[in-house]
Amino acid sequence: MSDDLLDSIFEKAVSGKTLIKNRRTLTIDYVPAKLPFRDEETKTIAQTLSVVLKGARPSNLLLFGKPGTGKTAVIKNVVQRLHQKAKELGIEVTVPFVNAKTANTGYKVLYEIAENMGINREEEKKLQVHFTGLSMGEATDRILDFKNSMLC
Ligand SMILES: Nc1ncnc2c1ncn2[C@@H]1O[C@H](COP(=O)(O)OP(=O)(O)OP(=O)(O)O)[C@@H](O)[C@H]1O
Ligand SMILES: [Mg+2]
Repeated sequence: MSDDLLDSIFEKAVSGKTLIKNRRTLTIDYVPAKLPFRDEETKTIAQTLSVVLKGARPSNLLLFGKPGTGKTAVIKNVVQRLHQKAKELGIEVTVPFVNAKTANTGYKVLYEIAENMGINREEEKKLQVHFTGLSMGEATDRILDFKNSMLC
């Protein structure tokens, strides 16, 4: 393939017109800043999670609804804003996202939580939650120990 042809492709990518205004909106993790018709749901979730800002433990939430109706978008939106608020207040909030379709056993969920929290970046191997080999109890203890060590 000639250099000229490649050059013209790249030039066109930079200067040419495109049908899509913002490609980011088509990515899987894009969360719209505004979610019309989801005020009630947003409010309920935010109220439930807001207690973490006072160091309390929020109630469990189960979101259900038809596919594509915005469950993930609403929760991500609230969590994004919660992180912003926590940062303003100097509070550390970690929210692990685990896809139970791939993490399809209890142990895999714990492993994903540990990964999300950065536990496996600890130098000492005995503090880490390995991909396999620990009991559920030991993995849970290591996650809780890590969390408590962050509070000190
Ligand atoms: N209120 C809204 N207004 C406009 N777009 C929205 C709204 N809620 C969600 N969307 C968009 O609709 C798409 C589907 O939303 P989302 O993935 O949150 O749905 P879901 O309920 O989690 O679906 P699933 O059940 O498949 O997990 C996403 O592109 C999201 O950005
Ligand atoms: Mg979803």
